[in-house]
Amino acid sequence: MIKIIGVSGSPRVGGNTELLVKEALKTASEERVETEFISLAGLNLKPCQACRSCGTTKECIQKDDFQAIFSKMVEADGLILASPVYFGSATPQIMSLISRAGLVSGAKGRVLENKVGGPLAIARRAGHNFTFAQLMFFFFQQGMIIPGSTYWNIAFGREKGEVLNDEEGLRTIRNFAKKMVWLIKKIKE
Ligand SMILES: Cc1cc2nc3c(=O)[nH]c(=O)nc-3n(C[C@H](O)[C@H](O)[C@H](O)COP(=O)(O)O)c2cc1C
Repeated sequence: MIKIIGVSGSPRVGGNTELLVKEALKTASEERVETEFISLAGLNLKPCQACRSCGTTKECIQKDDFQAIFSKMVEADGLILASPVYFGSATPQIMSLISRAGLVSGAKGRVLENKVGGPLAIARRAGHNFTFAQLMFFFFQQGMIIPGSTYWNIAFGREKGEVLNDEEGLRTIRNFAKKMVWLIKKIKE
């Protein structure tokens, strides 16, 4: 069965990023796809130390919550990475995951290659496109395949739950999730 995982890079439990990822996963599950939501909130996820030992051992030397998440990324057919905008950028949490996953994946022989997925970015007012691009660089560098939607995968919201008022944002994310499933099914045919 097709599996899609959605990662929220927000430290805020029950916030807008979480809601948006869950909306994408709900849409995917309506197409008979297995989904799993992963929140980085409260996890122990240190940044990459640039020790390069993964190049030799093919594992990250820092033992924390990274290993469990990376295993799920490798098992999945589809991957959604979402972040709120913090001072115009993606959060340190999601960047820690990206840096370490990118190097370990490379060391293991580019194990994320050809997976389907893409970024989501959420902000109160500005910085969506920059954060969207930050996450997109990871997908491109890993040889993953990003399907389009009816707009860029961004949404507006400040306080918890406000993103649910952004009709166009929700519609864009639902269309993105549908396109992800469509593409994964085509690839697996
Ligand atoms: C430290 C911090 C920095 C933020 N920086 C920005 C920003 O640069 N631009 C913006 O529009 N919103 C900014 N926000 C607002 C968040 O992006 C917004 O509240 C978002 O919905 C939070 O997502 P969450 O509910 O998943 O945590 C910032 C919030 C925090 C806590």
